[in-house]
Amino acid sequence: MHQCKEIAKNTYYVGCSDRRLALFENAFPIPRGVSYNAYLVLDEKTVLLDAADESVSAAFFENLEYLLKNANGSPRPLDYVIVNHAEPDHCALLSELIRRYPAVCVVGNTKTAALISQFTGLDLTARARIVQEGDTLKTGKHTFSFYTAPMVHWPEVMVTYDSLTKTLYSADAFGAFGALSGGLYADEYDFERDFLSDARRYYANIVGKYGPQVQALLKKAEGLDVQALCPLHGPLWRKDIGWYVDKYKKWSAYQPEDNTVAIFYASIYGHTEAAADILARKITEKGARGVAVYDVSAAHFSHLVAEAFRCKVLVFASVTYNMGIFGAMETLLNELKAHNLQNRPVAVIENGSWAPAAGNLIKEKLAAMKNITLVGETLTIKSALKEEQLRDLDALAGALVQSIG
Ligand code: FEO
Repeated sequence: MHQCKEIAKNTYYVGCSDRRLALFENAFPIPRGVSYNAYLVLDEKTVLLDAADESVSAAFFENLEYLLKNANGSPRPLDYVIVNHAEPDHCALLSELIRRYPAVCVVGNTKTAALISQFTGLDLTARARIVQEGDTLKTGKHTFSFYTAPMVHWPEVMVTYDSLTKTLYSADAFGAFGALSGGLYADEYDFERDFLSDARRYYANIVGKYGPQVQALLKKAEGLDVQALCPLHGPLWRKDIGWYVDKYKKWSAYQPEDNTVAIFYASIYGHTEAAADILARKITEKGARGVAVYDVSAAHFSHLVAEAFRCKVLVFASVTYNMGIFGAMETLLNELKAHNLQNRPVAVIENGSWAPAAGNLIKEKLAAMKNITLVGETLTIKSALKEEQLRDLDALAGALVQSIG
């Protein structure tokens, strides 16, 4: 059964949610599912903005076919598909789309066509309309203009602005994990409660590496009168857009949202964990609020990366394992480097029963990140924290609270 919804003049949401997929990109757990957003504009010409993932093929085509057959009283062809992003979760259905609508013109840039051809073998030469920065497509009452957004998240990414409805189709920018359950718009949820952590996790892990490119896109968007934001995943925006843009400004500048401390620990028999817990208590006793403590073996790294983006001050406490950093901690540090995390005061705690080595190795990894400042002395635990070390932990807590500012 079709389940499309009109969201603006002649503009319909034709996307779908998937609650079965366990791992987005086969990497990121999505227990709350994910939506693949797509939009259809029924103007003098018909325009689809992006397709969807193969997993929602049946529902997506049902929506599309219903509208093209019924919305204006008589069946209509699909004239254009605008490909803002060629990643397969939005483009895998392109071959089938062309099979069903053989006259459709594919709108994208030169990189879009190349990537689609790499993935699908489709030669779009005869049916592509190649656009460049600022080009427009008039389809009747609607005029679409195109702005490149390279590396937000892939090199071919562009965004499309419809000047009639003042809608920015923003591709991966402003996306979020989480299926849409009833509401399409952020204002139909308690977004901070229901979506913000998944939006942050989506941002940090999917586009977090490309902060400068996101800022370039934000600058372009500032020149447009944007009354609605339509991303490829997660809720759409029509109210309080500035609030969400401010989040993006912070995230893309690698500035923390919250003046608090996140402690990430790797512990085997609970002794490093105990040190992390005592440190968290001492930090709180010294006035900090919202201290977050994570066992890196128990939480997926994508959540931890998002928390590192959120919190101002970070602590890494790890056992030494095979003369190296404990595996889950090493993964976290590698992910933070890969996602370009920067601008953080950081403290290090190491544990090692006979040859503690994790501390220096962690600091080597931190040294490869930008603008990371070490707070206090590295605390070395030999198997278990000793009574006399509580003073050191107390001093470290004080230095951490100071660095919150
Ligand atoms: Fe949903 Fe980068 O794609």
